[in-house]
Amino acid sequence: MRIVPKLTLALTAASAVVVCTRATLRIERHAAAYELAMEHNHRVVGHVLAASMAEVARREGATTAEHLIDVANETKTGLALSWDRDRVSTGDVQGIEGPELVSLMPVAKDDPRLGSLRIREPLTARDEEVRSERTHVVYNLLGILAVGAVTTLILSRVLVGRPVDLLVQRARRIAKGELTGRLDIRSSDELGELATEMNLMCEALTEANARVLREAEARVEALEQLRHADRLATVGKLAAGLAHELGTPLAVVAGRAQMIAGHEVEGEAVVDSAKTIEREAWRMTAIVRQLLDFARQKRTLGESSDATESANRAIGLFRPMAEKQGVELALEAPADARVPMGTESVQQVLSNLLANAMHAMPSGGRVVIRIKEVRAEPPAELGEKPGPYLRLDVADTGTGIAPTDVPHVFEPFFTTKEPGDGTGLGLSVVYGLVREHHGWVSVDNRPGRGVTFSVFLPKEARS
Ligand SMILES: Nc1ncnc2c1ncn2[C@@H]1O[C@H](COP(=O)(O)OP(=O)(O)OP(=O)(O)O)[C@@H](O)[C@H]1O
Ligand SMILES: [Mg+2]
Repeated sequence: MRIVPKLTLALTAASAVVVCTRATLRIERHAAAYELAMEHNHRVVGHVLAASMAEVARREGATTAEHLIDVANETKTGLALSWDRDRVSTGDVQGIEGPELVSLMPVAKDDPRLGSLRIREPLTARDEEVRSERTHVVYNLLGILAVGAVTTLILSRVLVGRPVDLLVQRARRIAKGELTGRLDIRSSDELGELATEMNLMCEALTEANARVLREAEARVEALEQLRHADRLATVGKLAAGLAHELGTPLAVVAGRAQMIAGHEVEGEAVVDSAKTIEREAWRMTAIVRQLLDFARQKRTLGESSDATESANRAIGLFRPMAEKQGVELALEAPADARVPMGTESVQQVLSNLLANAMHAMPSGGRVVIRIKEVRAEPPAELGEKPGPYLRLDVADTGTGIAPTDVPHVFEPFFTTKEPGDGTGLGLSVVYGLVREHHGWVSVDNRPGRGVTFSVFLPKEARS
C-alpha cells in the first residue's frame, strides 16, 4: 500500500477511536445524570406525597389516603405510584428493576404500620435520549471522519506523497545513470533535506564520473603511448634487416641510373632500365610503407580484421631479419580468419612474439605461426565464457625460457636481455592488448627446445 493511503487510513482510524471513546464516555455520563435526576424527582414527589398521605390517613382513614394516590396517578407525570402497605421500609430505597426505576420510601418514618410508597418510572425516556445521542454521535463521527480523511489525504499528498514520488523518480533516474537535473523540493523538513542531499550526491557522482572518465582516458592514452613506443622499438629491431632489404633495390637503382647517365645504354635498353628503376623504387616504397604502417599510432578497439592477413604482414616485416639469421618463417593459416581486433593490434601482438622468437634463435631455427579456430575453455580466474576462439600460435625452436622466469614473462619490464636489447615490455603489451579484447595468452615452454605462445581471441566481439 502506498504511503499516502496508509497515512490517511492510520490518521482516520486514530481519530475514529478518539471520537468514539469520547462520545461513549459522554453518553454514559449523560445516562447517569439522567438517572440521578429521575431519582431526585422520585424523592421530591415521594416525600411530598408520603407526608400528605400520612396526614390524610391519620385524619380521614386509609381509603381517603389511597384516593390521593389515584388522583396523583391520573396526572400524566409518567410516574406509577402505589401504596405498599405490607412493606415496611425505614429509609428510601431506589434501584433499577428491569426497564424501570423503582423507588420505595416509608409513608411515615415514625409509623411503620403505614407501609411504603412505591414509585415506578419506565426508563424509556432515558433510553430514547441515549439513542438519539448515539445517532448524533454517529453523524458527527461520519462528518469528522470524512473531513479528516479528505484533509489528511490532501495534506499527506502535498507534504509527503508528491515529494516522495519525486524522490523515487529521481532515484530511478540515478539508477539508470541520469545524473543531470535538480530535485526541486522546497521544504525545510526531512524530505527537503533528503532532496538536497540527493542533489549534492548527484553533483558528487557527476564530478566523480567525469574524474573517472578523465582518468580512464589518460590511462588509455598512456597505454597507447606505451604500445606506440613498443612498436617503434620493434621497428628499431627490424631496422638492420630492413636496411639490408633496401640495400639491394637501392644498388640496382643506382647502377641503372649510372648506366643511363653515362650513356652506357641506348634506345630500348634505356626504357628497360628506367622501368627497372621504377619497379625497384616501388619495392622500396612498399617496404617503407609497410614499416610506417606498422609504426603508425592508431587505436583499434572495436575494429575487426583478418588475422591471416596480419600474420602475412608481420612475417613480411621479419623476413629480412630472418634471412640474415638463418631462421625459416612459416605460416599455417586458413585463407580468412576474422577476429574482433584491428589489424595494427594483431600485427603488434604477432610482431612482439616473432621478435622474441627471433631473439631466442641467434643461430637459426624455425618459427611457425599457426592460426585455427577452436572451442576453448578460458582460465577460470578471467571470468570469460567458453566458446569459439581463434587460436594464434607462435612456435619457435629457440632456447626456451628458464622455468623460474616463466611466471614473470608477462610482467612489464621483466627482461633477461642485455640493456639495449630489450625493455621487457613486449609480452606485457601483448597480454594487455589480448585481455582488452577478452582473450588470453598461454605459454608452452620446452627449455632448450623452444617455446610456443598461444593467443586466444574470441570469434565474436564482446563488450
Ligand atoms: N620465444 C621466447 N623464447 C625464449 N624466451 C622468451 C621468449 N619470449 C619471451 N621470452 C622471455 O621473456 C622475457 C620477456 O619478454 P618481453 O617480450 O616481455 O620482453 P623483452 O623481449 O625482454 O623486451 P622487449 O620485448 O621489450 O624488447 C624475455 O626477456 C625472455 O627472457
Ligand atoms: Mg620482446
